[in-house]
Amino acid sequence: MVSPFDVLGIDDDADEDAVRRAYRDRVKEAHPDRGGSVEEFQLVRRAYRALTEEGADIGKDGDGSDLSDVDLTADETAGAGPTRVEYLDYEVIVDRGWSIDDEDLFGKAADADLPDVDYGRLLVEPDESLLEAAENRGFAWPFSCRGGACANCAVYLVEGELSQPANIILSEAQSDRGFRLSCNGYPLSDELRVVFNVKHLPELDELRLPPGPFRRAHSD
Ligand code: FES
Repeated sequence: MVSPFDVLGIDDDADEDAVRRAYRDRVKEAHPDRGGSVEEFQLVRRAYRALTEEGADIGKDGDGSDLSDVDLTADETAGAGPTRVEYLDYEVIVDRGWSIDDEDLFGKAADADLPDVDYGRLLVEPDESLLEAAENRGFAWPFSCRGGACANCAVYLVEGELSQPANIILSEAQSDRGFRLSCNGYPLSDELRVVFNVKHLPELDELRLPPGPFRRAHSD
């Protein structure tokens, strides 16, 4: 039995700003890439969600302060510190002759009057991976294994930070270059800019598995 306040290392009367600051520190410490574990990472995220949803009531009377008592619905999680994501389909970059390294890439996309399926913004809730968030909002981004063993779900990170707690496929150089796996990538920043559907980039193409149900006709 563990209190979300203990998970975040804060007093049980901490206000929301303190919760948020503690979360930012703890989520980095708990990150699997930095010596933590997937379980610890998820526990920290759940603690943050619990405290920002239940607010001061949790701390005042003790009810619900145990994580085992917290069972939030999707509606209840709304507003619990989602990450704002601006996304762009790599196929648009190819079709238009743009470069993925263009510093004004997202400016060009914003001016190009693209449909939502190719370019736009979405929110990722604290307990969603990037891929889950896209799917939960009606998009069909590519994937296959959902377990860190292929490059089908890879995205290119232009801005922000996305964890990759399970990754046995991307090299350190590819991670350093900015590639992440969206199927188990959890935002570590308030904002992200990502290019999705980058599996056909030459450096990732050979790491693909047979595709999951990416339903767009021009996906493969
Ligand atoms: S779908 Fe295979 S690693 Fe994400």
